[in-house]
Amino acid sequence: MRTKYYKVDSANPDLTVLAEAAELLRQGRLVAFPTETVYGLGANGLDAEAVAGIFEAKGRPADNPLILHIDTVEQLNDLAAAIPASARALIGRYWPGPLTVVVKRQSHVPNVVTGGLDTVAVRLPASLTARELIRLAGVPVAAPSANTSGRPSPTTAQDVLSDLEGKIDAIIDAGPCAIGVESTVVDCTTPVPTLLRPGGITYEMLIEVLGEIEVDPALACSQSIPRSPGMKYTHYAPVAPMFLVESGADYAAFILNREINGALAAGHTVGAVVSAEMADSLPPQVIASVYGPRTDTALIAANLYTALRSFDNKAVDVIYAEGIAEQDLGLAVMNRLRKAAGYRIIRE
Ligand code: TXA
Ligand code: MG
Repeated sequence: MRTKYYKVDSANPDLTVLAEAAELLRQGRLVAFPTETVYGLGANGLDAEAVAGIFEAKGRPADNPLILHIDTVEQLNDLAAAIPASARALIGRYWPGPLTVVVKRQSHVPNVVTGGLDTVAVRLPASLTARELIRLAGVPVAAPSANTSGRPSPTTAQDVLSDLEGKIDAIIDAGPCAIGVESTVVDCTTPVPTLLRPGGITYEMLIEVLGEIEVDPALACSQSIPRSPGMKYTHYAPVAPMFLVESGADYAAFILNREINGALAAGHTVGAVVSAEMADSLPPQVIASVYGPRTDTALIAANLYTALRSFDNKAVDVIYAEGIAEQDLGLAVMNRLRKAAGYRIIRE
């Protein structure tokens, strides 16, 4: 199929363009669209056949459920069987925005959306383009990140096209995504809410509203089985194998250079995903992709997937990544880096 390309201004999206894309969604077609986090691959969330098309286009495992995107808070009432106080508090503070709440679902939510679970994940995005598209479609829009399963999530329309061109009906390009990592997923069905995926709403921001939150043990340890089905797969991975150095700012330069020099001596072409400070200390043969200054976690999040994708068309044999501190958006960044590295972690 030919993928239709629409371009809109993120601050003032053309509603006639969005109406055309919304009509495609209503017809059961697949439309990629921008959100403030990453680009999503949308389908009518109440049309099981259309949603099945998402799994097909992405090569996504069927047991990995999708987020339903809505454009008013009230629409949650049509999807959730109950809205716990924790969900109400989080929504009141962080919607519209990069927060997904998991709640008990109503029976009409298709199984293909929830992976057969009795819960559903719902998000009201901040992106104007996304919200107007959902409003014009008049249905909840099921949308995972618009990448091929396992690849880094797309933060530009070009990223989407390089994975999915010809496999989806349309894409709406509104320029790069502001946040750059996915939404935070919180399970609100547990007595104390559980953080399933760190994202655009930080741990610190959740604590501010909730007072306490459990953290899915799978986030700390690759051995246990995550409760968020999607977190168990290797994800966000660049084409070459990646190693993540997690050793604190003081020793990171020493360890990275030691590992990199070893790989160079073995004749490998080496890539590195590093801070601006680190880039200066690496051997000149290294193909470095800089994610930003070490302490600016928001900028690092915004650049992360572009940095990982920058190796797509470069013949590197191995990539070394520099870890950062896990505060603010650093928690989400480190979660994605560990997964991108397939948990090949050098920690000294
Ligand atoms: O920022 C985002 O959330 C983006 C944009 C497009 O909105 N979407 C996104 O979707 O990241 P996806 O499918 O790539 O990630 C959804 C995550 C997965 O880890 C999935 O397992 C989890 O949410 N999830 C979905 N429904 C769930 C449920 N009922 N219970 C637990 N986890 C769920
Ligand atoms: Mg994804």
